[in-house]
Formats: sequence, C-alpha cells, structure tokens
Amino acid sequence: MDLFKLDGRVAVVTGGNGGIGLEMARGLAAAGATPVLVGRNRDKGKNAVAALKADGFDALFFEADVTSESECRKLVASIVEKCGGVDILINNAGIAIRKTPEDYSEADWKDVIDTNLSSAFYLSQAVFDSMKARGGGKIINIASILAVFGAPFSVAYSASKGGLVQFTRALATAWASSNIQVNAILPGWIDTDLTVSARSEVAGLAQHVIDRTPAKRWGRPEELAGPVVFLASSASDFVTGASLTVDGGFSVQA
Ligand code: NAI
Repeated sequence: MDLFKLDGRVAVVTGGNGGIGLEMARGLAAAGATPVLVGRNRDKGKNAVAALKADGFDALFFEADVTSESECRKLVASIVEKCGGVDILINNAGIAIRKTPEDYSEADWKDVIDTNLSSAFYLSQAVFDSMKARGGGKIINIASILAVFGAPFSVAYSASKGGLVQFTRALATAWASSNIQVNAILPGWIDTDLTVSARSEVAGLAQHVIDRTPAKRWGRPEELAGPVVFLASSASDFVTGASLTVDGGFSVQA
C-alpha cells in the first residue's frame, strides 16, 4: 500500500546494529528506505549491514557514540554529505544498568541518562535543518513500558524513558509546523541481548513476563518493524506526540 512506502527515504537508526534496532532497520528497508545504522561496535555494524545486504537491502553503517553532542553533530553532517539528507530518525540506542537506587553511582546515572535521553535530543537537534529542508520528517523515540511502570532495579532507566516520552510530546509541539512528526514506541519485554542479561540478573523475571502478558510470551525484535514503519510513513502524518505501546497486552493486564 502506497501509504506505507518509504522509497527514497534515508532512515537513521541508532543502535541499529543489533536487537530491536536491526529488525526495525530491516522493516524500514523492506518498505523502501535506506537504513543508516549507527553504533559503537564497528564489527557488529559491518555484520548487520552484511545481513541486510544478504536480504537484498541497501544499508550503511556509521560508527559513533551518541552520548556525545559533538559526535552527534559530526555524524549527522557525514550522513547528510553521503546520503543527501535525513528523512527518518529512530532514537533507539539504549542501555540499562540494573542496581538498587542506593547502589547507583553518579557515573551509572549519567551513563543511562546520556545514552537513553540526551542522545535523542542531540540527534533530533542535529537532523532538524535537513528534515526541514526536505519538507518534513519523522522522529521516533524508542522508550519502554518502564516509562510508565516502576521497577526497583531501574531508577535511571525509568527516569530516562519517562523523560523520553515527555521529550517526544514537547518536540512534537515545537516542530509540527515544520511537518516533522515526533512519536514514541514503548516496547514491552522483548527477547534481545539487553533482556538476556535482565533475565540472568533479575530472579523470576522470565516467568513473570510470561505469566503477566496476555499473549503469554516474550516479544520478538521483528515485532517492532510494523509499528516503526507506520510511524515512519505517510500513514501517520496526523499522528504526533503519541506513544504506541507494543507489549502483547502486558500494560493493560489487570
Ligand atoms: P540491545 O542491547 O540489543 O541494543 C541496544 C543498542 O544500542 C546496541 O546496539 C548498542 O550498541 C547501542 N548503544 C548503546 N549505547 C550506545 C551509544 N552510546 N552510542 C551508540 N550506540 C549505543 O538492546 P535492545 O533490546 O535491542 O534495545 C533497543 C532499545 O529498545 C533500547 O533503547 C531499549 O531501552 C529499548 N527497549 C528494549 C526492551 C526489551 O525488552 N528488549 C523493552 C523496552 C525498551
């Protein structure tokens, strides 16, 4: 359906070299976009590009640490130079440091906030001119259901993801007049490297998720592809400032 076509669009996906990011990139590529994967690990990036190319998609990898404002600016300038501009930005890079609040160091707190929240601001700011020049764009922030729920091991993570949802709403109001739609996706529990470590660190988590989720299973990274294509495409041109939960019903279970 034309509404969902992304032909000719340049889609930047941070943390796109693995997990949810790579599967969203694959979905965007299948809809016609050129995914530009951003990450810190060059080998992982090369492998991700090779995997997409093996499936017949064009893709590029740029190495960057998105916690640095200056690196974000340089990154976007390089992408604009190489690809001509940016149409879609997926702020997906994220980390979790699981400790009780009393054990959190200042460095832990800053690491999580800088990676999950500040990076989204730096990159959004950096792509603004290019999106505006191209007549509009789409920014999609990957938050979490922990933007809404609390968990004893996730104070910084929850704060960063809650902040990302509010950032999404505020940015949406600021840039609607430039035809830039800004939305958030709140994934539930998805089976990736991030949650492999969560399952080993948090006793009982694996079964708790299955018991509470009406779908009775963990989510798969590729199940984020459809939602991201919707929010990246013309199908969502009047949707902005919204949060789309993708959690198999976890958050509506009484
Ligand atoms: P992942 O660990 O597989 O992917 C995260 C990616 O972010 C990695 O490729 C990592 O290298 C990259 N990254 C981290 N710090 C970076 C930095 N400073 N600069 C550049 N890249 C950086 O984890 P997953 O599960 O794919 O997570 C993707 C996003 O989805 C994260 O924002 C996470 O918080 C969010 N999320 C994941 C859920 C899950 O159950 N897996 C649930 C809710 C949200």
